[in-house]
Order: sequence, then structure tokens, then C-alpha cells
Amino acid sequence: MNKLELTQLNKHYGKKHALKDFSFTFTNGVYGLLGPNGAGKSTLMHLITDNLKPDKDGGVVKWNGKPITELGKLYRSHLGFMPQQQELYSNMTAGVFLGYIAALKGIPRKTAQHEIAVALDKMELSDVADKKMGGFSGGMKQRVLIASAILGDPDLIIMDEPTAGLDPKQRVIIRHLTKQLAENKIIIISTHIVSDIETIAKEILMIQSGKLLIHGTVPELVCHVKQGEPTLENLYMQYYGGQ
Ligand SMILES: Nc1ncnc2c1ncn2[C@@H]1O[C@H](COP(=O)(O)OP(=O)(O)OP(=O)(O)O)[C@@H](O)[C@H]1O
Ligand SMILES: [Mg+2]
Repeated sequence: MNKLELTQLNKHYGKKHALKDFSFTFTNGVYGLLGPNGAGKSTLMHLITDNLKPDKDGGVVKWNGKPITELGKLYRSHLGFMPQQQELYSNMTAGVFLGYIAALKGIPRKTAQHEIAVALDKMELSDVADKKMGGFSGGMKQRVLIASAILGDPDLIIMDEPTAGLDPKQRVIIRHLTKQLAENKIIIISTHIVSDIETIAKEILMIQSGKLLIHGTVPELVCHVKQGEPTLENLYMQYYGGQ
């Protein structure tokens, strides 16, 4: 069982205190990180993926008991990250793009082609591997990016708003594919759309102004709804509706 442990994480951008004493322990399964714009979701993900450092004395991220700062490259080999809002090279084919990402990740040439084929297959993109990405729909582009995050079969996958800008049908497809990835892994998905994660997340974390407001399974969380039906949508409105 993998374990990702965040202890008292704090991050300032200048005077802006973007993440405040954030502590949580993730184990294998899908987690949904819910919060409105500016809540601190991307900041948290950049700290987990070691793309940003916490403040001085601003807490620790541990992967299976060891601080990620000590693990360095070894940690990165366990990690797949899909950052928020990326551009794809429209003249590149999906296969070539993934080859490029595989090289960046240091996946040996011998195994890269196999890894790419597996990732394309998981994202149901095998048919379009040799097509230029400029002609892809929004959902296909997002799936190429998820494929790039899962190259090398990492056991910690972080996806920052993988369904941003997608229509409901594409959201359903991405949700379905994500669920299938989940075995023996930690997957953390940020979104501000409840239905993206409601049915697939083992646990949901709700974040506001850099703080972890509440976390739990959907049945646990909906007990906190004060007005209306006990739904996650109503809890979301209760916390963030005024914003
Ligand atoms: N590089 C930066 N410099 C200054 N302030 C920043 C920077 N990055 C983020 N912030 C601020 O930190 C806070 C948290 O931002 P963050 O991007 O983590 O939120 P988010 O939950 O990912 O929002 P969104 O849903 O819009 O992606 C916001 O107030 C944001 O304006
Ligand atoms: Mg963000």
C-alpha cells in the first residue's frame, strides 16, 4: 500500500498565503480535491509534485515514509503529473508527443514504445496514435495529456482539472477511464465540478482559501448539508456558494 503524507504544508507567494497548514495522508485510491478558483488546488499539487517548494519550515511531503526532498529522482519515477491547462503541439502526432515525454521522463528507449502503446490503449487513443493532435477534440487532447501522465506506470498520479472545458459526454469518458486506472495507485484529481469525482473518489477533500475545510467519503460529507437534500452539490454550495 502506497502512502503520501502531507504534514503542515504552508506556501506563500509574496504576502499571499496560498496554502495554510495543510495536512493529509493519502493511501491507494482516487481522491477528489474540490474547491473554487484560487482555493489553492494547483499550489497543493505543485508542492506534492515537487515543482514548488513549501515555505521555509513550511512542512514536509513524505512518500512511503521518506521526505520527497531526499528521494529526488527516485520519487519522480513514481510520479505522473498532468498540470492544469497545457498546450499541445498541433503538428505533432500523439505517438511522437508521447515519445518526447517518455524521453523527458527518462524511460529507456527499449521499453518506451511498449509503454506508449499501453498508455494510448488505456486512454482509448490507439487508433489515432499517428494523427496530428491539431485535429483532436478537447476530450482527445485531455486524454493525450493523461496518457503522458501515466507513461511508465507511476503509482502516484496527480491530475489538475483534467476535465476543464469539456462537454458532459467527454467528462463521463474521462471519469470512466480514470476509474480504470485506479488499482494499486494513489490518484488525486482536482476539479470544481462535483460530478467529475462524486462517483469515483474514495474520499473527497474540500479546500477553501488554502485550508483543508473538510474531508471524507461522499456519504460522510453529505451528513454536513444543512439545507436541502443531502448531496455533495449542496455541500459545495453551502461552502462556496457565496463566492
Ligand atoms: N505564482 C503566483 N504568484 C502569486 N500568487 C499566486 C501564484 N500562483 C497562485 N497564486 C495565488 O494563490 C492562490 C491559490 O492559487 P491556486 O492556483 O493554487 O488556486 P486553484 O485552486 O488552483 O485555482 P483554479 O481553480 O483557478 O485553478 C490564489 O489566490 C492565486 O491568485
Ligand atoms: Mg488551479
